[in-house]
Amino acid sequence: MYSIRCVSMLVGMLASIVASVPASTEKLRAAPPAEFTPNPTPGGGGNKYRDSPHFRIYNYPTTVVADGTLKYLEAAYSCFVDDLGWRSTGLTFNGELTDTGPWYKLNVYNVGNIPGAAANTGTESKTGLAFLNVVTQYLNTPSVVVHEFGHALTYCERYWVDQIRTGAWWETIANFVADTYLTSSVCANARAKYQQPEGDTLIDLGKSISDSYQVIVDGTSGSGNYYQAWPFFTYLTNNPDNYPGLGWSIFPNVWTKYKRNSNETPLHVLERLAAPTKIQTVVGRYWARMAYVDIGHKKAQQAFQKNRKSLNYANLDSMGSGRYKVKTARKPRYMGSNIIPLKGTGSIAVRVTTTNNAPFSAALAIWSANGTVRYIDLINGNAQAVLAASEEATLVVANTPSSLILFDPFKLTADLNNGLDYQIQLTGAAA
Ligand SMILES: *[C@@H]1O[C@H](CO)[C@@H](O)[C@H](O)[C@H]1NC(C)=O
Repeated sequence: MYSIRCVSMLVGMLASIVASVPASTEKLRAAPPAEFTPNPTPGGGGNKYRDSPHFRIYNYPTTVVADGTLKYLEAAYSCFVDDLGWRSTGLTFNGELTDTGPWYKLNVYNVGNIPGAAANTGTESKTGLAFLNVVTQYLNTPSVVVHEFGHALTYCERYWVDQIRTGAWWETIANFVADTYLTSSVCANARAKYQQPEGDTLIDLGKSISDSYQVIVDGTSGSGNYYQAWPFFTYLTNNPDNYPGLGWSIFPNVWTKYKRNSNETPLHVLERLAAPTKIQTVVGRYWARMAYVDIGHKKAQQAFQKNRKSLNYANLDSMGSGRYKVKTARKPRYMGSNIIPLKGTGSIAVRVTTTNNAPFSAALAIWSANGTVRYIDLINGNAQAVLAASEEATLVVANTPSSLILFDPFKLTADLNNGLDYQIQLTGAAA
């Protein structure tokens, strides 16, 4: 069902509202009312509606369905706005952003059909508010509707709006919001408050691991990974490597610290947030941790353990004598990686060399039968380790060029899809 796409109308219609906001804009805080004000303008309203404090659902099929939708949307609102401090979807994204109100309910419309999609998010430029359209059969599917709520949250943070190079990342963020709502302990209190169960993870290991060589966020129609790339944000927010500047504080910083109207990529703002740690180091370690899905996400890791035998690890061709060469079609593209399980225990050594000395980040991820993973970074292309009988190693090689590229994931160019060409020498292990 995750092939069902949402269509976010995120660019074009908002061109006029992103001018002239000073970079120093600070939010003004005020207590929001317990019950927000209805506003039929976004999406056009209607006669048949049902309310909760922060939402209004129009044209609902039954009160049972409507109340179900409103309840988990309130749970999601409670998690992201009340607990995590994201900007309220009740506030306009027009003008200079403040948190002083007025606050309006987010409109949700039950719609009969959306070609090729289960739901989408619209925006209304006069009010500066988003609204959600949901196909009837998905009204009680939080993975679909909270994804759209994720778009509404992104809109009301404003600064990615009309920034084409952030476009594909909106889907990454929306699925991150949906998966976090469904599975994360950070939303556990909010789910409990509204009697909502924990849900299943949205992780797609066939993309995150089997196709890890792709550009980190690839918006290519049919073969991209932009809906599936969200574990990067799970890693950044859980921050298991304790990098300063990362963790949950990246939200709303990815928006509020976005260079105004620069059309930079989200990696550019993350680079500033992570400094002095290099973004290349962060991306390299993210991929190293994806070797065993060691990113602070229990259900995703369980899914990995259950499905790892069916994943595609055919990244290399053997050249004999412990030498290997990356397969042309699997060369890690911009900020993508190869995840290479190794056979062998005891003393092992790896050496990675790249054509033209192209920069990269690589590490051994060493998994122990007790469930812990240790990491050994390759230094100048080399690493050694001694593996206990209860341990196994995976080599991860990431394509992390020395400077970030300005790119639109919907229009990947040759320099982004030009993979990292490398060879490996293994001693005491086989790939
Ligand atoms: C897990 O096993 C590794 C060795 O395989 C050991 O170094 C580590 O301390 C163990 N961790 C726990 C929590 O038992």
